Amino acid sequence: MTQPLTVVVLSTGLDNFKEIRSALATDGRVQLLAGGNDSDQLHEEIVRLKPAAAIIALGGNSEQALKFIQRLNLESPRTAVISAAHNASPDVILQSLRAGAREFLRLPISQDELTTVLDRVADFSAGQVEAPKKKGRMIAVFSSKGGCGTSFIATNLAAATAARTVLVDLNLQAGDLPLFLGVEPKYSIADMAENRTRLDDALISSFVTPYSSNLSLLAAPREADSADEIEPEHVFEVLQRLRESYEYIVLDPQHTFDSITLAALDQADEIVLVLTLDIPAIRSTQRALEIFDRLGYPRKKVRIVVNRWSKQIDLELRQVEKFLGEPVLGFVPSDYQTAVTSINLGQPLVESNENSKIAMEIRRIARTIATSAVSVQEEPKPRRALWKSIFKREPARNQLEFQVSSTDLSL
Ligand SMILES: Nc1ncnc2c1ncn2[C@@H]1O[C@H](COP(=O)(O)OP(=O)(O)OP(=O)(O)O)[C@@H](O)[C@H]1O
Ligand SMILES: [Mg+2]
Repeated sequence: MTQPLTVVVLSTGLDNFKEIRSALATDGRVQLLAGGNDSDQLHEEIVRLKPAAAIIALGGNSEQALKFIQRLNLESPRTAVISAAHNASPDVILQSLRAGAREFLRLPISQDELTTVLDRVADFSAGQVEAPKKKGRMIAVFSSKGGCGTSFIATNLAAATAARTVLVDLNLQAGDLPLFLGVEPKYSIADMAENRTRLDDALISSFVTPYSSNLSLLAAPREADSADEIEPEHVFEVLQRLRESYEYIVLDPQHTFDSITLAALDQADEIVLVLTLDIPAIRSTQRALEIFDRLGYPRKKVRIVVNRWSKQIDLELRQVEKFLGEPVLGFVPSDYQTAVTSINLGQPLVESNENSKIAMEIRRIARTIATSAVSVQEEPKPRRALWKSIFKREPARNQLEFQVSSTDLSL
């Protein structure tokens, strides 16, 4: 996908703004983010939105505008400043270039000149070397069977990390994580997906719902309709961006191998695979492990956690591990009253009842994961073909898509 050329316009008045806006509208690459003649307001917008270009119109008294160009040049060096004026005398052009403008546009704008200038801005944008991006660690808490306690464990794992963490509700049609944290989100992943090309720290903070100084929730959409518009590519891009803002990104995906879940699991550094010790859940976990193998996930990416564990369960643990072919990393004890009380309180148990056995075990699991030497994925590539092939087969997004064969997965 070609990135749009984002532009902000500082005009000298309404007519001047309309003139520039209609010229820009003729170029399919341009996305106009903001415009007007209030330089203070536009300055804030430029610093916040970091557009590819800022067009600054020079009026009769160009001194103010030239100072503005100088300021932008210092404070927003990745934005290419284009000065624009009816008076295209060598003096005016020279002054604006000296102030730091990269280009000059003569008003009224001619189509050819605009194309040339925008081509150069596109080259300039493409050549910008980004500062090295921070890489948060992404942990997906997954179960191929509903009701095993994945949302409960995801919430508590997220609350147990002593670092900036975002918990992401990927049950797009029926997310229930706000209940676990007792919050009422105003925005959701749908807003994040819609604005994915211009997500910076400030915009991300405005879309997540804070729970504490360390933990925020990126909620599922409130309307099922907006969930339908979210594509796996959007989720992939949003998650990539979250990695740059948070130290931990904890995902609570659906219990199916739908395209959105695959986009998330693909990208996760670790998958905490949750099961309960009953035959259907164990079988389902074994099939999930087989699918992970076919998807090419290394086994070290998967950590098995038994939830609702009790000594009374007369299944031999060794046999279960042998059946799954993997060791079990953690055993979260069964204590319905304690678990439900924390959910009803809207407070993670690791906070509301930190000495309970469940809380202690979840903290231990969080520590084990935090200190394990699994390397964070370098630069995961989106596997659109794979997600699309799965997606085509989905009768509806929420349907169980478990019986995929290796040919269906295009592996
Ligand atoms: N260790 C536990 N002991 C007892 N009850 C538990 C435990 N963990 C979770 N539960 C209970 O299990 C129920 C389901 O938990 P949760 O909603 O986290 O599961 P889920 O796998 O996310 O389910 P869903 O299919 O709705 O996504 C909750 O009522 C919760 O209180
Ligand atoms: Mg759940």
